[in-house]
Amino acid sequence: MNLVEKINKLKKEKNAIILTHCYQNIEIDEVSDYVGDSLYLSRAAAKTDADIILFAGVYFMAQSAKILSPDKKVLIPDITSGCHMADMIDVENLRLFKKKYPNIPVVCYINSTAEVKAECDVCCTSSNAVDIVKNLNVPKVLFAPDTYLGKWVGQKLKDVEVITFNGFCPVHLRIRPEDIMEARRNYPEALILAHPECHYEVSKLADFVGSTKEIMEFSQKSDKKQFVIATEKGVVERLNRDSKLNNWGKEFILINENIICHSMKYNTLEKIYDTLLNETNEITLDKNIIEKARLSIDRMLNLNK
Ligand code: 13P
Ligand code: SF4
Repeated sequence: MNLVEKINKLKKEKNAIILTHCYQNIEIDEVSDYVGDSLYLSRAAAKTDADIILFAGVYFMAQSAKILSPDKKVLIPDITSGCHMADMIDVENLRLFKKKYPNIPVVCYINSTAEVKAECDVCCTSSNAVDIVKNLNVPKVLFAPDTYLGKWVGQKLKDVEVITFNGFCPVHLRIRPEDIMEARRNYPEALILAHPECHYEVSKLADFVGSTKEIMEFSQKSDKKQFVIATEKGVVERLNRDSKLNNWGKEFILINENIICHSMKYNTLEKIYDTLLNETNEITLDKNIIEKARLSIDRMLNLNK
């Protein structure tokens, strides 16, 4: 039996599911029940009746699954798989931010720890950030931790003031406006699709800005044949794979070969097998934190049905 077969057998025996973010090593898709962006995976975690959720993603994503399914065992193949952006804000810094701008609702990007979520009013992901802020129906919001996603939301909603914390994604910030200009010269027929974690000077130059899943859906529906992708390499690999498998005749080009989130790649099939077999690397959270963070995530899911 190969590793994929062994993992699939274990999943059946243990009534486990595997949720996989689309920045993960692509071979993990072969054992996955759901592959997608943060919002899609949060919804999957909330509705599953599996006993074990193995989250092939970064730590905050596995924490979100635990918050949404507190009675389930949530495992992560590599416990050190962190997110640099999520690590840029802790509860203390968030409280200082709130103190500086009192009595303003706090919207917290899902790329944050459970403790930070517990201190916020509502969560959002990159695919629903604009809708969440709009549906709050308030003139001002605080947005943490991603300054660029917050600024992008502010540009979309001219009548809401979005005050942003100064966090960022070091991976997406490796994409520079010059890369977009060069891509336009090298691939004049292509559309350029960017993630809103990119610097706003980059987002401004793109043809479409959206979450990983939105980028994937947009490019599938488009009549164009060539796309330059300004987000993590895993998205490009999946799109090229799906184009070949389904005869789309489309080509997807990564904007710059350095756009790799290395901690997303810590998870491997070998680690998935060991983690599921031994039920190690379990996510545990304080009950009080789960309850408070859950309110922020539930508000998001309700505001964005
Ligand atoms: P998505 O919400 O698009 O999945 O993005 C998560 C992420 O970490 C992007 O860097
Ligand atoms: Fe975090 Fe950036 Fe990696 Fe996304 S790409 S998980 S925001 S470090």
